[in-house]
Parts: sequence; C-alpha cells; structure tokens
Amino acid sequence: STGDHVAALVIGSGYGGAVTALRLTQAGIATAVVEMGMAWNTAGSNGKIFCDMLEPDQRSYWLRTTTDQPLGYFLGINVNKSITRYTGVLDSEKFAGIRVYQGRGVGGGSLVNGGMAVVPRRDYFAEILPSVDVASMYDTYFPRANAGLGVNAIDTAWFETASCYRYARVSRDQARASGYSTTFLNNVYDFGYMKQELAGTVTRSALASEVIYGNNYGKRSLDKTYLAAAAATGRLSITAQHVVTAVAPNSAGGYTVTMNQIDTAGATVTTKTVRADRVFFAAGSIGTSKLLVAMRAQGALPNLPSAVGQGWGNNGNVMVARAQHLWNTTGALEAGMPAMGIDNWADPAGPVFAEIAPFPAGTELWISLYLAITKNPNRAQFSYNSSTGAVELSWQTAQNQPAVNAAKRVFDTINKAQVTVYRSDLFGVNKVWGDDFTYHPLGGCILNQATDNYGRLPGYPGLYVMDGSLIPGSTGVNPFVTITALAERNIEKIISTDLT
Ligand code: FDA
Repeated sequence: STGDHVAALVIGSGYGGAVTALRLTQAGIATAVVEMGMAWNTAGSNGKIFCDMLEPDQRSYWLRTTTDQPLGYFLGINVNKSITRYTGVLDSEKFAGIRVYQGRGVGGGSLVNGGMAVVPRRDYFAEILPSVDVASMYDTYFPRANAGLGVNAIDTAWFETASCYRYARVSRDQARASGYSTTFLNNVYDFGYMKQELAGTVTRSALASEVIYGNNYGKRSLDKTYLAAAAATGRLSITAQHVVTAVAPNSAGGYTVTMNQIDTAGATVTTKTVRADRVFFAAGSIGTSKLLVAMRAQGALPNLPSAVGQGWGNNGNVMVARAQHLWNTTGALEAGMPAMGIDNWADPAGPVFAEIAPFPAGTELWISLYLAITKNPNRAQFSYNSSTGAVELSWQTAQNQPAVNAAKRVFDTINKAQVTVYRSDLFGVNKVWGDDFTYHPLGGCILNQATDNYGRLPGYPGLYVMDGSLIPGSTGVNPFVTITALAERNIEKIISTDLT
C-alpha cells in the first residue's frame, strides 16, 4: 500500500519476473511482484478457472467486448463473438500494423502459451547476442532454465499411435515426403498427464481445447514452478490487478513506483505509490518498452539511452494453413500442445522453423495449421505520442513480407508435392497468410545496447530489465526458454555484484 518501502520490486510476473523473484527471494531479499492481470486461482461459473477455446467467455480476453481470435474467420465468416469486458487472460494489443498477443495474469505468457520449450540453435544465439558468453549459456543457464520450468519430452512411441497427434503425424509425413526434416519439441505441459487424458483417467485439458485462454490441468505454468518456489521462501509478495504507470527516482533513495489498482472491468480503484530500492522491469517486450519510453519522454527517467525503444521484432512470426485431401484426416481430437516442428532453418535462402500447430475445434476439419518462425530482418521502434500520451509501435504489416516469402517457399513446396492448396478463409476473406499478428514480441530494450551486458539501465543504479525486451527481435525458435535462461544469467550476476 501507499508509503510502503520495499527492497526489490518486480514489474510483471512472466518469465523474466518469475526468475527474478525466485533468485532474489532465495538470496534472502524480500521481493514484491506487481502484476496487472488477475491471480487466476479461483474457479469461475463453470467450476473451472479458465474457459476453453470452443466457448470463450469474459475470462478469455483482456478488456474487450468481442473476442479477437488469431484465426478469426471460418469459410471467410468472422467467428468472433461478444463477451463482457473483463480482465481476461489473453490480451490482443493493437498497434498500427500488428496485433501482439500476450498473457495477462500471475504467470504472464505461461498461462496462455503453447508450452513449447525450445533451446535456440547455438550458432544463432551467438549471432543475435554476441556479447553473451555462449558456453556458459549452454552449459549452465539453458539447463537451469529447463529444470526450473519443468520441461519434459514426449514419449515418441506414444506419439506414433496417439489419436490426438494424428494432425501432427500427417503434417510431419508430408513435410518429410516433400524433402524437409522434422523434430520433436519439448514442452512444459506434463505429457504424462496428457497420456492419462487420452486414456480417460483424468480430467481433460490439452485434449479439451484448452490452451490460449489458459489450461485448467497439466500445464506447468510459472505460478506452479518458479513463482511457487519463490513463495515457498516466505519472502515473496505478489500483488495482482495493479498496473504500474510510473517509475522515477525518489529523493530519499531508490525509486518511486506508481501503480493503479484496477477492478475486473479495468477501471482504476485507487492509485498507490511505493518506494523501492531496486526495480526490475519484467513487463514483457511491449510492457517494459512502453513504460521506459514513456518515462524518458515524460522526464521521469530523462537520461535513459536512445537505444531504449529500439530494435523490436516479431520473431518472424507468420501463420498459414493447408487444406488436406478428404482421405488425409487430421483427427477430431487434437492435443492443444504442439509436439513437432519442421526445421528448415539451415536453408540460407530463407530460414524457417515451423511449429505444427493444433486446430482444436473438436471436429474433423482436414486442416493443417502452422506457426512459422522466420529470420525476418525488419525491426520497429516505440515512440511516445505526447498528444495522446500513448506509446506507439512503428511496425507496419508490410514489414512482415520477408516472413511470408520464407514460409511460402516451404509450404508451396509441400503443397506442390502433396497436391494440396492453402486455406484462404481463416485469417480473413481470401487471405492466406496470418501476417498481421504475433505471439512472440521481442526487443525494445536490447541487451548491451539499451542496457549493459546484464540488463542494468545506464545512469539509473538499481533499475534493471529482465524480460523478452532484451532479445533483439528474433531467437529463431519459440522464445520463453531463451528469455528464462538469459534472466537466470543476468540475475545471478546482479545478485553477486550489486546485492551482496
Ligand atoms: P510476459 O509477457 O510473459 O510477462 C509480462 C507480464 O507483465 C504479464 O503478466 C503482464 O500482464 C505484466 N505487465 C505488463 N505491463 C505491466 C504493468 N505496466 N504493470 C504490471 N504488470 C504488467 N513461447 C514459447 O517459447 N513457446 C510457446 O509455445 C509459446 N506459445 C505462445 C502462445 C501464445 C498464444 C502466446 C501469446 C505466446 C506464446 N509464446 C510461446 C510466447 C511466450 O509466452 C512469451 O515469449 C513470454 O511469455 C514472454 O515472457 P516475458 O517474461 O518477456 O513477458
């Protein structure tokens, strides 16, 4: 509450924030986490915490009156529906040229994501973050992240026969027959639990069309891993439904952090200020970049470097779907957690790493869906609009054309070999490419450019950046393992150098 003085305040409870909270509390430091989303620990009207993808209700979206599904159309018809405005778990944040999907709640993106836990290629990691010692990442911090996250591998023999992965096997076999290699993907969803779901011995979650609006069972989201471990130290407090709006130096030392407590309709209930000796920005690529760019422009943190707000990218995301022949059924039951990817990253003409994505509609659709990660070199900047008070992102939809081109090479080849066609009715009317949204916002506060080599903000001792904003727009794979491992590396250094 107002007037409080805390040793460490963490803004946001996603991957960067959860790692920070655990390592600080383990080091004996009382830590306050402030999260704008809900705690997601109470069952709703249907007896479950989260709603599923077939019947999205108010719990699905962050402060919207209609759903905004990534695949918003079917047969060219808009399938979004009206919902009550509520602090739901998935935000589709709209900028001029892109919608950015993000998790809102204690656990951040871990509540809504596909759980795919992929370590980036070593040579590509060295390319994107050249100031980081690569050996220590692969020897120490990636293994530490995987352990902390509860990453597990699928039973590959079970995968071959499980009806819920028929969609993935069909896509895999066609990719291979078209000259591409595929790879299994680790996940934080408990594959042992999923096996029991298929066997009918436990309540279904991944097999009940639960994923982007939360999983009621089976998922090792951060509230069950890093944040639970931090809470067990007795030194953690988490304050949900509080939006941090300002951070500025406090004349008594440390920083004044201003926040709005909000109700479930998003209205401000009260405004609070606390003093923190140290503030860790972990509001995600978008949240951290927006806050820092606004603080610099408004004069609260005027000396932040010009690199703050630069270098944002969408991890080259583009989605696409193919129509299967009637004899190639993809299955009425699709596991919501992807387990396989097409790996064409080594192709210098257009690196693509494409996750074989589920379309968990609960009925046979003959659709193969993919989320392609490409090496799109385009980047964007955040800027403060002084007349509206909003922070804008310069990304234009056309900047995603390199991603479309790279994905098109792969899927044109597969379509030709399999004599299949694209679905053009799922992302709009006559629109093949889902090129105007991303699940993987990265950058805006790049390591060793906007911060020092460990996330310290220059000129402001005690201010740190800990999340996906440190990564320069691309990791070549799904990003949360990279974000987690980098946070593990940085917080270890910060604790040993700045806090003892
Ligand atoms: P993250 O977004 O997780 O956390 C930031 C937190 O800060 C949020 O909880 C937010 O509410 C809070 N916050 C923001 N501003 C605030 C403020 N001003 N005050 C208080 N709190 C504030 N990745 C992957 O590796 N494998 C996968 O399978 C998937 N799948 C996937 C699916 C979907 C639908 C989405 C949306 C995303 C994914 N991702 C993914 C991406 C992954 O979830 C994402 O990269 C990470 O969650 C980013 O971690 P961060 O710690 O950077 O921020």
